[in-house]
Amino acid sequence: MEETRYSGSLIDDYSQLRKAWPHRLEVYGRMSCHILSATQRANNDTPKILDAGCGDCEALEILVRDFIFCYSDKKQHKIDALDFGPKMLARAKQRMSEYNLSPPISYIEEDLTSFLEKTPDNTYDVVTSGWTIHNFSKEKRKKTVSEIQRVLTPYGRFVWMDKIFPDSYDDNAVRLLGANFMRYLGTGIISSPHFKDFLTHEFNDIADGQRLEEGEVRDLLRAAGFKSFRFDNNFYKNEHCFEKIFVATK
Ligand SMILES: C[S@@+](CC[C@H](N)C(=O)[O-])C[C@H]1O[C@@H](n2cnc3c(N)ncnc32)[C@H](O)[C@@H]1O
Repeated sequence: MEETRYSGSLIDDYSQLRKAWPHRLEVYGRMSCHILSATQRANNDTPKILDAGCGDCEALEILVRDFIFCYSDKKQHKIDALDFGPKMLARAKQRMSEYNLSPPISYIEEDLTSFLEKTPDNTYDVVTSGWTIHNFSKEKRKKTVSEIQRVLTPYGRFVWMDKIFPDSYDDNAVRLLGANFMRYLGTGIISSPHFKDFLTHEFNDIADGQRLEEGEVRDLLRAAGFKSFRFDNNFYKNEHCFEKIFVATK
């Protein structure tokens, strides 16, 4: 069930592309708070965390710094960082190498859904994912969210950050073109040779059939059997950014 919507120049030029998301550090900080709180509740001396679609581990780096700050060396965490992109994982390894974690981070180069299908029940205390699942087809999203629920330990948490549009989003192309241009203009990435690819990808994110909406997220979490979920929209962004965090408990 592998899909490769996120590939090519989007990965090659990722450091440029991400400049269009200047609020990402604040978003990662919020994710980190939710993950910390979930690991504190975990009934496990070494809570186990999966970052599903870790990219170059910018979010995990913030989490690890928070762990070091909050726990010093008192509490160990086992982190699995999964991504199907070898270039992303190479950057991730380089970024995280300075932290010398024990136990070390495991890097898994595989399609997320295929990996989950092979993973035993009750493996992870926390699964987190950022900007990854919205790239999947609807069928793959359903399978993936259901597998995430299965591999979580009882009361384990899924911290899901993604580009999530309001229900029945009005995809007025002219408005969106303007919005994306404004966001990109401020970053200088307009000069990237891959600028057109970035814009095309963003437009496809919004297209009917691909666009991930709040109602679908709620339906997916309910259908997967999560007991409860909350929705955190409580960080800075402007009206052209659609990031949201859902925290679901098994
Ligand atoms: C927009 S990036 C986000 C990366 C990271 N979470 C971040 O916040 O920077 C999406 C990532 O998902 C990965 N990805 C997309 N589809 C995947 C799949 N089916 N299985 C595993 N990784 C996937 C891509 O390689 C890419 O690194």
